[in-house]
Amino acid sequence: MIILLSLFACQPDKEPAATTESAAPEEPMPEVWGVAPAEDHDPSPDVVEVHLQAALTTVEWVEGESTEVWAYNGQIPGPLIQVRLGQTLRVMFENDLEEDETTIHWHGMRISDQMDGVPMIQDPVQPGESFTYEFTPPDPGSYWYHPHVSANEQIERGLQGVLIVHEPDAPAVDKDRYFVLDDASLRSNGSLYGFAMDHMTRMMGRWGNTLLVNGQTSMLTDTVRPGSVERWRIVNTANARPMYISISGADLRVVATDGTRLAEPWTDDGRIEVPIGRRFDLEVIPHLDAETVTLINEVRDGYQWEEIPIFEATVAGDPGPGEPLDWAAPTLPEVEEPVQEVSVTLDAGEDEDGALIWTVNGEAYGDHSEIPVSGNTPTRITLTDASGLDHPFHLHGQFFQVLSREDRQLDRDRGHLDTVMVGARETLVLYTSFDNPGVWMAHCHILEHAELGMMAELVVSE
Ligand code: C2O
Ligand code: CU
Repeated sequence: MIILLSLFACQPDKEPAATTESAAPEEPMPEVWGVAPAEDHDPSPDVVEVHLQAALTTVEWVEGESTEVWAYNGQIPGPLIQVRLGQTLRVMFENDLEEDETTIHWHGMRISDQMDGVPMIQDPVQPGESFTYEFTPPDPGSYWYHPHVSANEQIERGLQGVLIVHEPDAPAVDKDRYFVLDDASLRSNGSLYGFAMDHMTRMMGRWGNTLLVNGQTSMLTDTVRPGSVERWRIVNTANARPMYISISGADLRVVATDGTRLAEPWTDDGRIEVPIGRRFDLEVIPHLDAETVTLINEVRDGYQWEEIPIFEATVAGDPGPGEPLDWAAPTLPEVEEPVQEVSVTLDAGEDEDGALIWTVNGEAYGDHSEIPVSGNTPTRITLTDASGLDHPFHLHGQFFQVLSREDRQLDRDRGHLDTVMVGARETLVLYTSFDNPGVWMAHCHILEHAELGMMAELVVSE
């Protein structure tokens, strides 16, 4: 396979471009370790065209057994889509699932609502049909994509992929890696547990019994150079489990999160909470005297923490200077005096049969009223949990900043976010100017909570 690919790569279909007045040939995308990239089918330097196909395939997550999964282009996670800031992305999507309709949502991207992949705007793509998504991502950063129809089932079955919008001015790193953290709920014969929800699942969401990193159940390995500088992008794509990570054998700073590089990167020697849907970009500098650098998934088991290594790199090669880079973050827009107030209260409720459901402002999705807001207006959102559980809250199509919170370190939530953890009975004050008009969802990213109602519809006027 590798031989074939390099043969193609060596076959010039044109003379190597001498410098002429014609458009510059497309520069190759930076190489990113961890997830196989999508092919760009459009030779134009302004457009990246990716072909995605959702279909059944099998993986071996339990030794000797096969698990039927749903995947984009046969891989979990789906292909890494890469664009440079300013390029247009065209995704020609084909639904080859047997009987399920689906969509693709581009988590965190401030694009037109027509391309947001939510069923209230886009009729889901039926089996055998296709749809072309096309947009120009406005913000650099690490993103991911997934269906927005029966997301609790479709994402768990494997439909999830990652996307990077490369900054024009990112400092050069020795290696760029993407780690996709997930879990799956598997029977011992390898099959996925069914999707009917018992009370515990309705309450806590679906917690998997098998951890996955980049779609693998076993630890990933590689080598790193001592004193080099790497960029590790982390996303949590689980249905319900908040992930906690730490790194040994290296210095680490959080240099970007969701859609923004951070003016003041922060450091942590403890564990970093990665809420579902949230991304963290880490600057990782392997210690000169380390033998290995390890990425650890810390799993809570009652009051104990268990450290599960999910990536281990042998430290080898010529030492680098070990100097942190200048990430030169753009300054965030000024927080203006809010002239609009929105309150969002997350809570639990009961349906007519007494089963547990989840609500936003007292209403479950389906039975909800739209929340109208004025666009391009400095707005304060008061976001409260009244249910007594944590909820990773995600807002489509906009960025927000966290102005204050009660339970967790505000420091860790600096930047332009699209997802934030709301602690049990905590109140957060968020700021946004709603500069992207349209119809947008706001929901808990515990997918069972969203499915059982914790999802609202915001209508942002021009
Ligand atoms: Cu990651 Cu509404 O979704
Ligand atoms: Cu929730």
